[in-house]
This record gives sequence, structure tokens and C-alpha cells, in this order.
Amino acid sequence: MVDDILRTPGAVRDAERWTAHNYHPLPVVISSAEGAWLTDVDGRRYLDCLAGYSALNFGHRHPQLIAAAHAQLDRLTLTSRAFIHDQFADFCRELAELCGKDLVLPMNTGAEAVETGIKVARKWGYQVKGVAAGQANIVVAEGNFHGRTTTIVSFSTDEDARADFGPYTPGFTVVPYGDLDALAAAIDENTVAVLLEPIQGEQGVVVPPEGYLPGVRQVCTDRNVLFIADEIQSGLGRTGTTFACDHEGVVPDMYLLGKALGGGIVPVSAVAANADVLGVLKPGQHGSTFGGNPLACAVAIEVVRLLATGEFQRRSAELGERLRAGLEGLIGRGLVAVRVRGLWAGLDIDPTLMSGREACERLAERGVLAKDTHGSTIRLAPPLVITEEEIDLAVAQLATVLTY
Ligand SMILES: Cc1ncc(COP(=O)(O)O)c(C=O)c1O
Repeated sequence: MVDDILRTPGAVRDAERWTAHNYHPLPVVISSAEGAWLTDVDGRRYLDCLAGYSALNFGHRHPQLIAAAHAQLDRLTLTSRAFIHDQFADFCRELAELCGKDLVLPMNTGAEAVETGIKVARKWGYQVKGVAAGQANIVVAEGNFHGRTTTIVSFSTDEDARADFGPYTPGFTVVPYGDLDALAAAIDENTVAVLLEPIQGEQGVVVPPEGYLPGVRQVCTDRNVLFIADEIQSGLGRTGTTFACDHEGVVPDMYLLGKALGGGIVPVSAVAANADVLGVLKPGQHGSTFGGNPLACAVAIEVVRLLATGEFQRRSAELGERLRAGLEGLIGRGLVAVRVRGLWAGLDIDPTLMSGREACERLAERGVLAKDTHGSTIRLAPPLVITEEEIDLAVAQLATVLTY
């Protein structure tokens, strides 16, 4: 086929013409999808190894989720929180039970869940811990990624994310990720929370040293500081357990959830915590027009039920071992390091060979979609419905791409 009868080049040009360039997508124009597979406007098929940055943990158009969405679309889609709707309590109860927490506060995007966590921690600090007015601080980690709002980018250490968006929100202290002594030293009487990703996704699936998360838990307990785990990307089955914190038996004071909670259909995020923490919010102090809407709740209830079976966590753990074995076989053959937890992998490509972007472009040409991050690193996060054969296919294509 020649370019002028393909639809992709024109569709790429149109997209570039009419949107702000805040992304640099691969030149692939998707028109349909099912399970782990995508089809583009020219009928080419791709194995999805990004899964919407883990928003598609259950694959594209999972039948149970699509059925829930269809049924809800036919009944009720939006009420606002001015009224209660019939999906709301079930969603909050079932998610709270999955998290082992008393209460849930639903929002929409991940960044909103993070903002909610920050607000709740500050209010808890003033009202429960007794921090002096206006003095609350939160300890965060270098290399963090928690979203794109002005407050959240204020404590990013990525200059692309942060530069020229000031003035910055004060009240955050950045410490090296994985360094427990540095974290403990940064806590003072005004510290209300430690906010961490249990695995840093955007940074390249960086797993902290063993013992770090339990250590953070202990320090937070000892110093009367809330431990907020941002499980927006790492949670809900991605790493082989319901939450990445589960790998080390750690229970944070607050879970921040998003992405997969919406089943790849609607944006749904949430904060889950006990009543002594989330209970500090009173009417009028926080909210969202769309947060906890009936369509979101109907889909997210089914997401929680899928997770409650444990099947997806099991798949992720088992298939993750196959992915790990395949990727480790490429160390010295184009890869210099791999980090794998469940079906989530960060791969460092030998930078003398090619950039992560180039590797992803070549993979796309061979029918596998993945995403680069930070120079020569790429990230794999396939839907948890991926099969053994499809994992082998992705690894084989990667091996080819790295050696030509
Ligand atoms: C750990 C983490 N927190 C927060 C966010 C922000 O989520 P959203 O893009 O839905 O605002 C992301 C998105 O990648 C994330 O990975």
C-alpha cells in the first residue's frame, strides 16, 4: 500500500494540526480494540503493551464492564452529589472493603485523587495532629509522578513537568526515593504526610529496596504522620497483588486510586482511608461535579468485583514471571537492566543502540505498542488479560528490534 491510500498519515497530520502539542504520540491511529489487541484506521493490528498506562488492566472492552456501562447508560448517567443515586453506596462500600478501609471519596482523574489526598492530609494535620496554621508539610520523593496540576508539579523533580509553571505551591519536601534515613530526617513536627508511589511508574518502574516501604510505614506510625500510597498506576492488580504495597505487607493510611478503577471506560479515581482521616472533611470543603457519578460507579463496582475474584492478580503474578524470564534473557543483548513486578516492566535499553522512543517506533512497526520514558527506558504494562503466547510475541519482537 502506498501512503496516499493509507488513512494513517492524514489522520496524524490532522491530529497535529488541531491539538496543542502536549504529547508526542507514536504515529498510530487506533479505531477499535478488544482484549489486548488494537486495530488502526488502516486495519493493522497491534498488541497493546501499555494498556492506557494501566487504565486498561482488564483489557479493552471487557464484556462484564461494557455490559455494566450499557445497562447504566440506559438508566441514569449523572445526578451530581447534590443527590444520592442507587449505585453510589455499593461502589463506596465494595471499594472500601477491597481496600480494608472505612470510607471512600470518589473523584475522576488521578491528579484529583492526589489533590484530595493532599487536602485531607493538611486538614488532618491542623485538626487532629495540631500543626500550627499554615505550616503543614508533606514529604515526597525525587523522581515522583503524581499528576499535572499546579500544586502537583510544584513538587515534581522533572524539569519538563515543572519549569515555567510557577509560582509553586509551598509545603513539600523532596527526599531521594528509597532512602529511609533521608525520609526520616526530613520529617519534623509540621509534617502531616509522606506521599509516595510504592513503585515509581513514570520514572521507569523503579522498585524501592526491600524493607523501604515497611520502614516508611514504621516511621510514619512513630512520628504521627500519614502514609499516603499513590497506587494510581501500581494498584488494582498491575503488580500481581491488589496493591503494590501488599508485596511487603504494608498498609498505608490512605490509598490513592485511579486509572484501572474506571475499567478503561470512564475516568474514576478515589481516596480510601479510615474515618479518623477522611472524616475531617465536612460539607462544602471538597467535591467534584462528576465524582462518583452513576455511570462511573456502575463500571467501577464491576471493576472491584473483578478484582475481588483474585483472578487478575494471579494472572499478573504468573504471567509476570514469564515476562521477567523473557526480558532477562535480553540483558546483554540490547538491554542493560530490567525491573519487573507482575505484568509491569521497566527496560533500560543500551543507550548506544537507540533511544526508548526509537525502540517504541520500531516495535510499533512490528505490531507491538509500548511507551518510552526518560531517554533509553521503555515501560511495558500489557492488559492483564494478555496470554502467554502474546507475552512471548512481545518479547520476540523486542529482541528483533534491539538487534537490527
Ligand atoms: C502514580 C500516578 N499518580 C497520579 C497520576 C495522574 O493520573 P491522571 O493522569 O489520571 O491525572 C498518574 C498518571 O500517570 C500516576 O502514574
